[in-house]
Amino acid sequence: MPFRRLIATAVAGALVAALSFTAVAQDVDPAIAGMTAQQKVDAREAAMKQNGGLMKNAGGLTGADAVAAADTMIQNFTNFPALFSDDTSAVGGNKALPEIWASFDAFTAIFAKAADGAMAMKVAAESGDAAAYGAALKTIGATCGECHQMYRAK
Ligand code: HEC
Repeated sequence: MPFRRLIATAVAGALVAALSFTAVAQDVDPAIAGMTAQQKVDAREAAMKQNGGLMKNAGGLTGADAVAAADTMIQNFTNFPALFSDDTSAVGGNKALPEIWASFDAFTAIFAKAADGAMAMKVAAESGDAAAYGAALKTIGATCGECHQMYRAK
């Protein structure tokens, strides 16, 4: 392959990789489909904890750090419905209440609200809009309590 064509091919390949990475970040992690119910429970508890840590520090973040925190939360909130799939209702030793599967649409609607909040957080972080950033954190924070109150054992 002539050198110039080689470069063009490499650049095009990098572009495709960058584009598909962006798309993947907003899709449910495909690895979840291959997980056992117990692995899903473990993964959702780890992601909940990760979100908790991010929420604790997010108020002090700006720029790329704030964008990265938002990206992680968008991905986690996007993954959660699949991590609470039907098969996980039979796994004991966790705090998920049966109400989750009795009203799954209402349950996952709260995750959707949280994901919207995390997307607003990302937009605000990218534009450096501190007021919108703070408002987005409030929106996300409210969803934690709203859901735990109804769907998580005390
Ligand atoms: C739509 C429902 C829902 C939302 C929204 C939600 N959670 Fe949870 N969370 C749960 C459920 C259900 C459990 C119990 C899961 C289990 O035990 O497997 C849980 C568990 C947790 C845990 C304990 C994890 C562990 O180690 O067992 C933490 C920490 C947590 N959530 C933090 C948060 C934070 C912070 C937010 C908001 C940013 C949030 N959650 C939003 C439903 C939700």
